[in-house]
Amino acid sequence: MKANPGGQIELAEVVGREQLIEQIWDTLEQQSIRMNAERRIGKTTIIRKLCAEPRPGWVPMFQDLERYHSAREFALSVYREVDRFLSARARIARRSKELLKSLGGTEVAGVLKLPDLVADAPWQDILNFAIQDLVQERAHQDARPLFLWDEVPYMLASIPSRR
Ligand SMILES: Nc1ncnc2c1ncn2[C@@H]1O[C@H](COP(=O)(O)OP(=O)(O)O)[C@@H](O)[C@H]1O
Ligand SMILES: [Mg+2]
Repeated sequence: MKANPGGQIELAEVVGREQLIEQIWDTLEQQSIRMNAERRIGKTTIIRKLCAEPRPGWVPMFQDLERYHSAREFALSVYREVDRFLSARARIARRSKELLKSLGGTEVAGVLKLPDLVADAPWQDILNFAIQDLVQERAHQDARPLFLWDEVPYMLASIPSRR
């Protein structure tokens, strides 16, 4: 195998992890998972495999939270992922859409543009509405959303330091 300092390898080159990944899918049937390990042990690679090769019925959403330095950025990114997930099928009247409209958002060709005003909405509301939409939608479809959040501790450490 060629040395690969830093970069990501092709998923086809990933060695092992099959058993662990099966265990992860089994566990996800019932609960969430927090993966905690040293740097460069292979966490991101595992998440990328979960994302690229989901068990039938799952719809993974990969987010590298390293990019976000505020709770609002995080909430908005979750909102956008949920929006993409929900738009995969016929859109229903969405509560968060109503929220965003009430904040001044407009809908262009079925795609909601996030208004500047949303920047003023409490991040808790944005996150709550996005998750409520997901829960509501779960009643209507079998696809199961899976949030794959990489670098959570990095974001959490970054938020208070940037205040
Ligand atoms: N199962 C694996 N087989 C081969 N290479 C791997 C495997 N897991 C990780 N790597 C490689 O090791 C390096 C670190 O992996 P990464 O998933 O980024 O670790 P972490 O997210 O824990 O810091 C990367 O270059 C990655 O491609
Ligand atoms: Mg990583």
